[in-house]
Amino acid sequence: MDGTWKVIPDPYEVGTFNILGEENRAGWFRDIKPRHPADRVEYDFDTSADIQVPGDWNTQIPELHYYEGSLWYRRTFTIVEPEAGRSFVHFGAVNHSCRVWLDGEELGSHEGGFGPFAFEVTGRIGPGDHSLVLVVDAVRKPERVPAIRTDWFNYGGLHRSVDLVSTPADVITHAWVTMATDGSLLGEVEVDGDATTASVEIPELGLRVDVVANERFTIAAADVPALERWHPGTPRLYEVVFGAGEDRIVEQIGFRTIETRGSDILVNGEVVFLKGISLHAEGPSGGRRACGPDDAATLLDWAEDLGANFLRLAHYQHDEAMVLEADRRGLLVWVELPVYWGIDWTNEDTLANTLQQTDELVQRDRCRASVVLWSVANETFPGDERTTFIGRLIDRVRDLDPTRLVTAALFTLPGKGLETHIDDPLGELVDVIGVNQYYGWYYGDRSEIPSKRWSSVWGKPIIFSELGAGAKYGNHGDAGEMWTEEFQAAVYEAQIEMIAANEDCAGLSPWILKDFRTPMRVLPGIQDGFNRKGLVSEEGERKQAFEVLRRWYASLG
Ligand code: GCU
Repeated sequence: MDGTWKVIPDPYEVGTFNILGEENRAGWFRDIKPRHPADRVEYDFDTSADIQVPGDWNTQIPELHYYEGSLWYRRTFTIVEPEAGRSFVHFGAVNHSCRVWLDGEELGSHEGGFGPFAFEVTGRIGPGDHSLVLVVDAVRKPERVPAIRTDWFNYGGLHRSVDLVSTPADVITHAWVTMATDGSLLGEVEVDGDATTASVEIPELGLRVDVVANERFTIAAADVPALERWHPGTPRLYEVVFGAGEDRIVEQIGFRTIETRGSDILVNGEVVFLKGISLHAEGPSGGRRACGPDDAATLLDWAEDLGANFLRLAHYQHDEAMVLEADRRGLLVWVELPVYWGIDWTNEDTLANTLQQTDELVQRDRCRASVVLWSVANETFPGDERTTFIGRLIDRVRDLDPTRLVTAALFTLPGKGLETHIDDPLGELVDVIGVNQYYGWYYGDRSEIPSKRWSSVWGKPIIFSELGAGAKYGNHGDAGEMWTEEFQAAVYEAQIEMIAANEDCAGLSPWILKDFRTPMRVLPGIQDGFNRKGLVSEEGERKQAFEVLRRWYASLG
């Protein structure tokens, strides 16, 4: 269903409500045409604007640059063959909230801008023409997640693929298998249908196990044939076939263990230092929402050129193409929920929606060997309600996947002395502590950075999940001059010296690979709507700091 769709902006929501504010039964979801010359119909998708799906609306239609909705989407399609089994419409992600209709019948709605969802349309798509209509809004609200203010651009719309999926009568809705720290395999085959048994097969290993559908299974380490572990740099994947009834799902899956020991992070029992970089889901050029394998390949080429073995995909679920590509390249990945800055912590609906977003994050990516860290929050301000809310998310994550590490990027203010001892209560609940610190940029004197020491009361691994400085590509001058490449490079030199001296540091993901679009950054001639902390510009031009970090990562081997 990707390709050209029709759209109609509807800032006053007249496509949904009548002047009394009631639901309009003749709303635009009906996608009707005048039946005769005197028939008054005041909208027409056929003659409305085109837009490409997947893609955001902000960078495709100039008038919609800062638009947050509502926007109506319509796609017509013709079915020739009658349905065999069941059919679903699957959305990779829609930002932020949408309602969906097929031939004027409402299929359902979804809230959350970054996770996949689907609606069943079995029995509704017989041979003939059909109309799929959505109304989407990306309105920022205090009770939403993320909430009102983010330092990234609120790209709206159908920014990931839309697919019509046909399946047999028994459908495998989720299937996963992953390796636990003891080398056993853990997973489940969730089935919607009559099938009560299912199977997991790794043909290359001659392994086939029959399991009970909709029940978690464990294959003991002793029963797992000898296999080549997936490891950073040697990303061994195996074809895995999940079966139930007539349905089959084939995945390429790597098997590795991930754990902590004191302040170290171990992959397959080996200490690995995370040489990372943070990324937003923005395309390699033109400041637009990234989507699809090509964008993923280019962004990961740049990360690999930097010598990174670790990616922080901030601050929300990225396109599946990113984690699939990371699996193939042997890169370790931190994925994250958009629980960012201030959230309506005591709102039960907000919690319910965030738990739904947690399900979407973990269920989609728990087969990925590259994904080793579930991050449940970024820079949330300490407080009991905050910690309780996030504690619920952590419980959900651990229930859905007990095999990976849980983390959060903590907001840290500059400590008085040289020592910063992290005691944010959230640090107790996670396995790995993410530290966002901007010494040399938002605070602190650059000369002091190398002598800074960080630790936590729990002695857990610390990842510097953000550090950095801004620079406009091509802007040169003295290292003491703001916004020059030399200033940014000097901050990196100092941060690298500091990190090399911090024992509890298990890795870093500097902020950020590429300059990215954000309405928060307005300085003319320098920012112009972009956060300039990238190591490359929004068009991929490398700044001096890119080389500083690359050299250090190379030296770490
Ligand atoms: C914060 C935040 C980022 C932001 C960055 C910055 O730490 O997590 O989303 O872009 O700082 O100020 O550049």
